[in-house]
Amino acid sequence: MMELKELLSRFDPVTGEIAGAPTTRRHLEDLRGCFADKAAFESAAAKGNPLIYSVATVETAGGEGDLHFGVGLLMPGRIGDEYLMTKGHFHAWRQAAEIYFGLSGEGFLLLEDEAGGESQLVPLRSHQAVYVPGTTAHRTINTGSAPLIYIGVYPARAGHDYGAIVGRNFRSVVMERHGQPELIRRQDLRTP
Ligand code: PA5
Ligand code: MN
Repeated sequence: MMELKELLSRFDPVTGEIAGAPTTRRHLEDLRGCFADKAAFESAAAKGNPLIYSVATVETAGGEGDLHFGVGLLMPGRIGDEYLMTKGHFHAWRQAAEIYFGLSGEGFLLLEDEAGGESQLVPLRSHQAVYVPGTTAHRTINTGSAPLIYIGVYPARAGHDYGAIVGRNFRSVVMERHGQPELIRRQDLRTP
């Protein structure tokens, strides 16, 4: 049998920390190239390099059938009109699906399949679970005014592939328009 300390994790739903587990912190500079409004990014970066999100992860041995999970905490705010978001990724093992559980705050998961076509925006908030199918790029977006905190559970074999979306980025962005989040195709953005 596994030991109790491997079976039981204690997470803090306010700080997003998991006792004894490593936390990855991404700051503004780590998201260089992700936001559509380059001038707005540079002006924010000139003022500092704030924390944008953190992910605390519990990783098992990684055998066939094992699961990993992470608690994410994504800060509220915008760069220009675009809401703060995670880098986003495919799973290295493309077939790997994931389930997100919203704990607090308000936002969305932006989903895009690899083949092309429409992007899909799925609400993520407390009392909601979102199924992310395999072969789907996923990015978390905070459209609220408080941190968005969530749990993601995924196969241990999944891995994270960031490279496939670096350069081309997601095909759609989520911008504030008339005080509301709106999904806009990147190619339809007005360029200044
Ligand atoms: O496994 C997941 O999908 C999440 O825990 C993400 O890793 C988390 O939202 C951070 O996003 P990213 O890995 O794209 O930086
Ligand atoms: Mn994932």
